[in-house]
Amino acid sequence: MSRNVRLRVMRQDGPKSRSRWEEFSLPYEPGMNVIYCLMQIQKNPVNAAGRTTTPVVWDSHCLEEVCGACTMIVNGRVRQSCSALVDRLTQPIELRPMSKFPVVRDLVVDRSRMFRDLIKVKAWIPVQGTYDLGPGPRMSPQEQEHAYPLSTCMTCGCCVDACPNYNDRSTFMGPAVISQVQLFNSHPTGALNAAERLEAMMEPGGVSECGNAQNCVQVCPKGIPLTTSIGLVGRAVTLHAIRKMMGR
Ligand code: SF4
Ligand code: SF4
Ligand code: FES
Repeated sequence: MSRNVRLRVMRQDGPKSRSRWEEFSLPYEPGMNVIYCLMQIQKNPVNAAGRTTTPVVWDSHCLEEVCGACTMIVNGRVRQSCSALVDRLTQPIELRPMSKFPVVRDLVVDRSRMFRDLIKVKAWIPVQGTYDLGPGPRMSPQEQEHAYPLSTCMTCGCCVDACPNYNDRSTFMGPAVISQVQLFNSHPTGALNAAERLEAMMEPGGVSECGNAQNCVQVCPKGIPLTTSIGLVGRAVTLHAIRKMMGR
């Protein structure tokens, strides 16, 4: 007897439309993941009641948990759907869009708030000129060990989805952006712009708006030590404010 996979998908036709649930039933195949299920629905958009419907819309790129684009809420947990294996999920598999970003359509959300905040804190290392600058400053193995996990952030948004202080009533930039401040401020060249990043962290939406609930660190798929970054940036902001008060 052939097995079926049951899915329950939260649908929304556009940013202002009402959401609704729609169920699907697909033939089981070994090794299938949630994105594969969505691809099958796209090929044959017929719901569990046998009615033809619009294909479910989702976002994805890398299909190997590197880009963060496919992040959604799978069975109540925010995660990447490309690495969500059907065999490990209870059914019906419930798919919802992330809860902290505006819905564009179905499972696609607009995460631009995170990218705008990365711009506010200058989350990059400026390189001047178009000529060869020679080798960059050397980083010790300890510095590399500190920086590497922070550099794996894929701006997926899981951490902000779980953060109670990140919502549409607050301007809190959230743990991922704070952690990028720590990454670039701890880089020997990035440190040249550390003061500007700390100034941004002192503005409304900055590090002081973290309530230390620690939800973020529990959901980060990359295991980034977000609360350590928040603590380090919080201390750096305090020192920066004291230095400013003393005119240094
Ligand atoms: S520790 Fe801060 S950033 Fe992390 S979930 Fe809690 S309030 Fe949000
Ligand atoms: S810190 Fe982790 S959960 Fe947050 S955006 Fe980066 S990878 Fe995603
Ligand atoms: S498609 Fe890139 S993380 Fe899933």
